[in-house]
Amino acid sequence: MKAYYMINYGGPEVMQYGDVREPSGREGEAIVEVKAVSLNPLDWKIRDGQTRFITGRKFPKILGADFAGKIKEINKISTGLTIGDNVYGSIRLYLKNQGALAERVVVPIGALHKIPEGCSFEEAAALPIAGLTALNGLRLCGILENKKIVVNGATGGVGHFVVQMAMAAGASITAVASTKNLEIAKTLGAGKVIDYMEQDITRQSEKYDIFFDAYGMVKFSNARKILNKKGIFATTLGMPGVVLTKFWNSFTGQQKIVLANYRGKPEDYRALGKMIEQGVVKPLVGKIFPFQETHRAFEESEKGGVAGKIVVSLQEI
Ligand SMILES: NC(=O)c1ccc[n+]([C@@H]2O[C@H](COP(=O)([O-])OP(=O)(O)OC[C@H]3O[C@@H](n4cnc5c(N)ncnc54)[C@H](OP(=O)(O)O)[C@@H]3O)[C@@H](O)[C@H]2O)c1
Repeated sequence: MKAYYMINYGGPEVMQYGDVREPSGREGEAIVEVKAVSLNPLDWKIRDGQTRFITGRKFPKILGADFAGKIKEINKISTGLTIGDNVYGSIRLYLKNQGALAERVVVPIGALHKIPEGCSFEEAAALPIAGLTALNGLRLCGILENKKIVVNGATGGVGHFVVQMAMAAGASITAVASTKNLEIAKTLGAGKVIDYMEQDITRQSEKYDIFFDAYGMVKFSNARKILNKKGIFATTLGMPGVVLTKFWNSFTGQQKIVLANYRGKPEDYRALGKMIEQGVVKPLVGKIFPFQETHRAFEESEKGGVAGKIVVSLQEI
């Protein structure tokens, strides 16, 4: 089958498109015919070698965690899922695990979820990591009603979900985005927008209840300057330094740090699916690339500037 895979860790030159061995599923696994894959910064961070201690050294390695497709084979009965079902999910790309940038992929049955009603394959593939990181981060922030939230990176994969979810929960949103994406931030529901190319958000006089850094590059020491006394800083940056700061801050500060990480429990997928079906949240698919042009999708993701998610489609587009 055709796949888009890396032959080593490194830059774009280690990625290839070509034939790989057909996957075979074991007990408890299904084979999914892939229809769409959305990219996350995680994909090119893995390719670069930033995660090599958990992603191993078995090459060729197929990238692409978030996928949507159709069940082709299922090696277990009575799971509520059957051959032909349209499903989506996210693959943990640890060690020998292969990703979804391929015509077919093996997925543990527990990681498969029915596509929410009304969602295309491309939209469903855009949901898992970004949508559930936003959901989990906001859940850890507690009650959102009537809270003033500033979302940094508001039109990105994670950020555009944060804006919509927080707004649906009754918060008022200030979105921080690049010049060309300010209008999109407004259409997502932000009451106020700030251009990060013009202004440093952490040097403003206005104070917020929650600073959600979906961009994942702001330090707590800067974010806290625009937080209320008991404000919350939520960050997608899952680095040891942040964990240490969070630990230290839990003893010393009134302001709180929340780690907005992907969490994919069945109840998380159910909650996200419900929001999609009720029309409370809509995935924004900013660009779609054909499978053979996956390298261009990587380029765009690394370069930045696309509002919403970048998706690779294995269907006719
Ligand atoms: N911990 C976890 O489980 C987890 C899960 C998901 C993501 N993440 C991390 O979270 C980060 C964002 O992920 P994503 O999928 O949302 O990426 P993304 O789609 O590339 O979005 C990044 C956003 O940040 C904005 N941005 C770029 N430079 C900025 C600046 N100087 N100030 C403010 N905003 C800026 C971009 O705006 P423009 O494109 O308009 O410039 C874009 O909207 C990545 O580092 C990713 O690895 C972590």
